[in-house]
Amino acid sequence: MQLGCCYFPEHWPETMWARDARRMREAGLSLVRLGEFAWSRIEPAQGHYDWAWLDRAIETLHGEGLKLMLCTPTATPPKWLVDQMPDMVAHDAQGRPRGFGSRRHYCFSHAGYRAEAERITRAIAQRYGGHPAVTAWQTDNEYGCHDTVESFSPAARDEFRQWCARRYRDIEELNEAWGNVFWSMEYRSFSEIELPNLTVTEANPAHWLAFRRFSSDQVMAFNAAQVAILREMSPGRTITHNAMGFFTQFDHHDLGGQLDMLTWDSYPLGFLEMFRFSEADKQRYLRQGHPDIAAFHHDLYRGCTVSGRWGVIEQQPGPVNWAHHNPAPLPGMVRLWTLEAMAHGAEIVSYFRWRQFPKGQEQMHAGLLRPDSAAAPGLGEAAQAAADIASLGDIGASVKQVALLFSYDSEWVTLTQPQGRGCSALWAAFESYSALRRLGLNVDIVRPGVSLEGYALAVVPCLPIVSDDALASLEAFEGQIVIGPRSGSRDKDFAIPPELAPGKLKSLFPGTVSLSETLREGAQHAGKGWCLSGWLDHIETDAEAELSSDDGIVACWKSAGVRYAAGWLEGSLADEVLSRAAHDAGLPVIPMPEGLRLRRTDAYLFAWNYAPVSAVLPDEACGGFVLGTGALPAAGVTVSRT
Ligand code: GAL
Repeated sequence: MQLGCCYFPEHWPETMWARDARRMREAGLSLVRLGEFAWSRIEPAQGHYDWAWLDRAIETLHGEGLKLMLCTPTATPPKWLVDQMPDMVAHDAQGRPRGFGSRRHYCFSHAGYRAEAERITRAIAQRYGGHPAVTAWQTDNEYGCHDTVESFSPAARDEFRQWCARRYRDIEELNEAWGNVFWSMEYRSFSEIELPNLTVTEANPAHWLAFRRFSSDQVMAFNAAQVAILREMSPGRTITHNAMGFFTQFDHHDLGGQLDMLTWDSYPLGFLEMFRFSEADKQRYLRQGHPDIAAFHHDLYRGCTVSGRWGVIEQQPGPVNWAHHNPAPLPGMVRLWTLEAMAHGAEIVSYFRWRQFPKGQEQMHAGLLRPDSAAAPGLGEAAQAAADIASLGDIGASVKQVALLFSYDSEWVTLTQPQGRGCSALWAAFESYSALRRLGLNVDIVRPGVSLEGYALAVVPCLPIVSDDALASLEAFEGQIVIGPRSGSRDKDFAIPPELAPGKLKSLFPGTVSLSETLREGAQHAGKGWCLSGWLDHIETDAEAELSSDDGIVACWKSAGVRYAAGWLEGSLADEVLSRAAHDAGLPVIPMPEGLRLRRTDAYLFAWNYAPVSAVLPDEACGGFVLGTGALPAAGVTVSRT
């Protein structure tokens, strides 16, 4: 695994570069990512390129033996370009054009901007594509950051109409599939279709689903154009993009299909603050991040490429600037996050960023160095992690235990039609994942339809639209299966299937969802040691009622090796259902003390302590230590030979 950092030579006087490069190498870093926001310096005016500074920066880093990941700068189109093509900007859901003065202001559907993005990509690839230090490329930067996948611009509307015309034979077929007869929403031609924003009340969910798919496809087309240029002009290099946390506005499985490797940007403390964790978790894990945030995304993004190649290209090194509150990590966490990524199979962990820049929007965001170039706390921890990684050597392949199925269109369905506050397929996936990790298990998050061979348990927390290949892989699977609510409840155009939920999955679980209801916070049905809340499917079935609440509600049905959970697989219901399934699957369940987590590879068993206090590993996970012991301090890591 390579350690690296994100570096912005354009922020600093040239006289600082050589010392920076030397200090990077001395800290054990070997990869530098650069160039993602440098368009205004590379091309200060249309067609006038200034490569000299970047040539010298690249030679300086190369001279120190560092490898480079160059980026295309298309997330930050410069002012001259926006002035030249004012209609290239995206429009928000209120129909307002996005202003210049930050980043990501472009519209994926604007043909003129797409041509400019290809032009600058070609220019950079031509200049540096054959350079021996350049081993990788990153396209753009964080597609969708700041809510920018969906654009409600005239360009997007025009392209959406064409997208619909390609997808449906004629307008009658679209009207029929979307159910436009409801509320007299029928169109007479594709050219009448509007975008689903600014309607009086909610737009048709089928319309929204189509628009979300279209918006994702626009990102794919934008990315594919850059990938094609980079492959042609810089052969043999790894092409990647940096994805975000808890972000679902485009289909990352589709994106991963275009790339050699998917990387992601890991900011565990910022994510804990900004996403739907309980107040208690926000307090307890304030300086560590919730124990499953980083691992969830490692396992999600590994499943997005065919090769399984992935990495962390931006790792939080200290306080960030963008969350509600921005605490510093507990000493040891930067090292812990780094080694945890390694245990999950990362090829790269690169810290964002080398040095804190005293100007601009992110002046309060830490780096490995302070603005005065003194070491910030993250630098020493990165160096420690580099030494640990070297001492561990080859960690072997990850051990297969549980496959968790997640698709992006599942989240689009629950987002479009939550039916109850907070209902989310992504969150259902995270909660199931977390429960499985509390049982001490390895979880791989996979795209529905991939082979499930080698796993003992498959968990489908929420899969409303079931593709034929998803069904086929589940039918071929011989292990235990757990299915969660809303699965099989919609066809590809958002209609309820004629046979009702769980639709196609009836071939696995013989039952019919006769009624679904959602429950307000505080309303729940409790059984022995568990409770169901939020969602409740009532089911007509001959299957066994495995878990019934004290007031007679069935929370889990079982038919042979398949369980159907009638409520979200979260909290104590997830613990109960998933531990029963894991035992039936013959998996080595080790209930984890609070804040402890495990990851198994062929060579090692890794353990992490995310609790703010010391913790003791269960006996079953002790022995053969090569790093640490069974008593873990806060932010502690142990590694033992298996
Ligand atoms: C990421 C982004 C970086 C930087 C960082 C700050 O989302 O890719 O450019 O803004 O966040 O945490």
